[in-house]
Amino acid sequence: MTQNTTAAPAATDSAPAGQWWRDAVIYQVYPRSFADGNGDGMGDLPGITARLPHLRDLGVDAVWLSPFYASPQADAGYDVADYRAVDPVFGTLTDADELIRAAHALGLRVIVDIVPNHCSDRHEWFRQALREGPGSPARERFLFRAGRGAAGELPPNDWESVFGGPAWTRVPDGEWYLHLFAPEQPDFDWDHPAVHDEFRSVLRFWLDLGVDGFRIDVAHGLVKAPGLPDVGHGEQVKLLGKQAVPYFDQDGVHEIYRGWRRILDEYSGGSERIAVAEAWTPTVERSARYLRRGELHQAFNFEYLTTGWDAAALRAVIDRSLTAMDAVGAPATWVLSNHDVVRHTTRLSGEGGAGDGDGGARGTRRARAATLLMLALPGSAYLYQGEELGLPEVTDLPDEVRQDPAFFRGAGQDGTRDGCRVPLPWSGRRAPYGFGPVEGGPSWLPQPDSWRDLSVAAQTGDPASTLEFYRRALAARRAHPALGAGPGLVWLPSPEGVLAFSRTAAGGSFVCTVNLTGAPVALPTPGTVLLAGADVVPGAEETVLPADSAVWWAA
Ligand code: NOJ
Repeated sequence: MTQNTTAAPAATDSAPAGQWWRDAVIYQVYPRSFADGNGDGMGDLPGITARLPHLRDLGVDAVWLSPFYASPQADAGYDVADYRAVDPVFGTLTDADELIRAAHALGLRVIVDIVPNHCSDRHEWFRQALREGPGSPARERFLFRAGRGAAGELPPNDWESVFGGPAWTRVPDGEWYLHLFAPEQPDFDWDHPAVHDEFRSVLRFWLDLGVDGFRIDVAHGLVKAPGLPDVGHGEQVKLLGKQAVPYFDQDGVHEIYRGWRRILDEYSGGSERIAVAEAWTPTVERSARYLRRGELHQAFNFEYLTTGWDAAALRAVIDRSLTAMDAVGAPATWVLSNHDVVRHTTRLSGEGGAGDGDGGARGTRRARAATLLMLALPGSAYLYQGEELGLPEVTDLPDEVRQDPAFFRGAGQDGTRDGCRVPLPWSGRRAPYGFGPVEGGPSWLPQPDSWRDLSVAAQTGDPASTLEFYRRALAARRAHPALGAGPGLVWLPSPEGVLAFSRTAAGGSFVCTVNLTGAPVALPTPGTVLLAGADVVPGAEETVLPADSAVWWAA
């Protein structure tokens, strides 16, 4: 393995030279569930490398890899014990190097996760902090405090863990430490200069290896309000992202990212190295603050993700997002699924699980329409592995196979995250459907029998399949001059429950129509069909859009 930077792919899109990220389609790989190269039931880096041609054929621009670093896996790798090492379960540093090189050779950029809010309780710094005890310099890199109550038996404040329960754990010497997530994930104290130095060094480590950017985990969490004041009420998790709390979205985080941006710019050359913030803020305007000049490049649009199947609400969030991002010169981003939320085929079905009643069919129709809407909007889009196969959420995993820490700390199965993390089906008629090399071999979560018909192999070449639909959509998005970063959108008159907008570039105009109602709707025919998410017979004057469907038009 060498430490030299491999060449990033040449710009092939309509964004300004080097600014490939402005309209990129970025595909999230969740390493433990993508492809298992060695047959141990857990996905790994060689497995990903071997499957990269699937992503090239799909037509995405970049891959974002969730953490594959050394970790006891208390939170599926978001508890990092060594930021410069690959966990043996995923492979080696050489495998990471090979993955980056192979991706670049295929024209794919690579973004890796960085987890700066907290580490693992097995990280050397935290072990040292435990060993050296109260008052030691090693404790100052974390948030250790004395407890409240006569004997310090109560947590230092009322903050709650995002995974449920108090955000504090007491150690045998009587002090408490802060963990906004699981107890195995102690929060760093970002007032400490060593923490800053360490993360600048970690960024350089991965940039030297050739990565094209970072997804910043809990980007809004690093800085806590001075004095760690109480929130003042319980059930805080229900209000996260909706109201201000003293542990998220504090103004001090921005200075950190200005420093990180300088590092990214140093490495940028002809192709920019980027950072995308995972920042759950109360408004898109607050998210846009992470993207001001000299800060980060993109932020996930969680307000879009959490908006239901409702035309007026979607139009409002699209307008708000475009306005807020435009004000800071950043592209809007769009996302429907990731490893923390119910897959959108199921979420949009309007029913608890895929397959009950008409929920499965309706979920699939709506998911396709939602995908066409998302990919037609100005800016960049994030896809989550398996959505190109139309995978539903797995809603009936037995408790004994579950691994999400939120399941064990929360109120039970609802809202937990294993159901969107089930390993992908690639081929064959028997589990693990090509996820691992051996038919009948293991997979860390069981796959439903119905997934044999949803595998990559089963869908390839079938024009009616979700996979071929995604391939066509991504090819059309790349080819049409008015799509991608391109021009803004102009809303067209449309009946209630229908969205219609145009985008016009020098080389051609484009119209997107989406019927979000449960009944067919007739609309004036705006051009010729570029791509339809359902059967559509265009009329000379009018075209009937089926229920829950979208059409792209060349106008
Ligand atoms: C956000 C990640 O997406 C999630 O999976 C993780 O549990 C938390 N951050 C904590 O790192």
